[in-house]
Amino acid sequence: MTHTSEQSNFDLQPEDFGEDFVWGVSTAAYQIEGAHEAHGKGISIWDEFVTKKGTIFENQHGQITCDFYNKYKEDILLMKSMNIDHFRFSLSWSRILPDGTGKVNPQGIAFYNDVINFCLECGVTPWVTLYHWDLPQTLEDLGGWTNRKVLEWFEAYVKICSKHFGDRVKHWMVLNEPMVFTGAGYFLGVHAPGKKGLRNFIPAIHHAVLCQALGGRLLRKMVPGAIIGTTFSCSQITPRSNSKKDLKAADKADTLLNRLFIEPSLGLGYPDESIPVLRKIKKYEKPEDAQNSIFDFDFIGVQNYTREVVRHSYTVPYLRAKIVKASDRNVQTTLMDWEVYPPSIYEMLKKFNAYEGVKKILITENGAAFEDSLKDGKVNDLERTSYIQNYLKQVHKASSEGVKVSGYFVWTFTDNFEWAEGYYPRFGLVHINFKTLKRTIKASGKWYRDFLRKKEQKEVFKTKKTDVPIG
Ligand code: BGC
Repeated sequence: MTHTSEQSNFDLQPEDFGEDFVWGVSTAAYQIEGAHEAHGKGISIWDEFVTKKGTIFENQHGQITCDFYNKYKEDILLMKSMNIDHFRFSLSWSRILPDGTGKVNPQGIAFYNDVINFCLECGVTPWVTLYHWDLPQTLEDLGGWTNRKVLEWFEAYVKICSKHFGDRVKHWMVLNEPMVFTGAGYFLGVHAPGKKGLRNFIPAIHHAVLCQALGGRLLRKMVPGAIIGTTFSCSQITPRSNSKKDLKAADKADTLLNRLFIEPSLGLGYPDESIPVLRKIKKYEKPEDAQNSIFDFDFIGVQNYTREVVRHSYTVPYLRAKIVKASDRNVQTTLMDWEVYPPSIYEMLKKFNAYEGVKKILITENGAAFEDSLKDGKVNDLERTSYIQNYLKQVHKASSEGVKVSGYFVWTFTDNFEWAEGYYPRFGLVHINFKTLKRTIKASGKWYRDFLRKKEQKEVFKTKKTDVPIG
């Protein structure tokens, strides 16, 4: 059930978050680009997965999606017109290396050069994610993330990206949400490549942890002045009751969903005291791995949408924990059946900030899908505006309590292909008519534009002031 949320009183200004706070939007290659086989692009696991009947809502796919591949100029100009100065997007590995490794596709390099150059021309800073879930299919045929060889493949890919784009791109993220692509893709089988079970999940976890740090080290070596991060999905976990069993279940869910990927990167190892089955990772470990899992990221990307309520369950092997669906809890929800729960972002900021070794945090994704409708050329998505405002209030609260949070990226710029859910959950600040590909700024997008305008105006004023010749 989706409830209409109340309009919030929002009186914060961008500068209340700090002078250098970064405001942007986030996207991902497979979700927006389309052009799935244009100009030498190879097939990715998502190109393949969507062709299997029944995997995606109404058998939809991302073959065209927003056609960002051809419309990137229009989109970046639109972004600029909305005062958005920071654009997070990902590179499609198989557009750059059609076979995953080996021969580089010059047309893939040219496309990303065009996007990067156009961003810079427009005064938009590119923030690049190296891997947002679209592994080349040829590598998946060799086992994908379950094969330790992925370290070599990833190394070659990162080197190529650093070499070609590192002169202009200074803001990098290594992986997008490793918990989601290993969990949904290699344990539950609901995302590409559709593999299931512990025998896939366990090695995939370990190799993702190693690549996360490896990518960081390579970028640091190859891109002078790079600001390097990686991103984590996270949700506040609330036990359904205070019973011992529910508390234990909540602790396990918290470990799996919030701690598993960051802790090895900070030198804390795998949190297997709470989930003993994670000890199976040892089978895949080499003596140097614990050290090689560590990297001192310049920032951590926190991605938060909701919280989870968790209860004990005998039927779930290893975890003995189950999520109580939001729709069964009579709470305000989004179209993803995610509870709208702004304090979760505050709790997650506090949690990640408490780790010694986390230098800086950016919210690299936050947003919501609601039932949008385009009427008379307008989308009056008040629920999305108040969702963003209420989450921002919590970000501000954390910041005023000393949490080192220095950026916020809305997920997402335009409506796009929402993985297994296809096109029905629209997360964009900008509506897309997927038949005509027409873009229409929603009310939430106009609100974000006007909110950011205050910052733009201030900056123009600042520059003017300093431009005045002294004397
Ligand atoms: C992912 C996005 C996704 C969004 C909304 C995040 O898990 O990084 O790709 O579209 O959440 O589900």
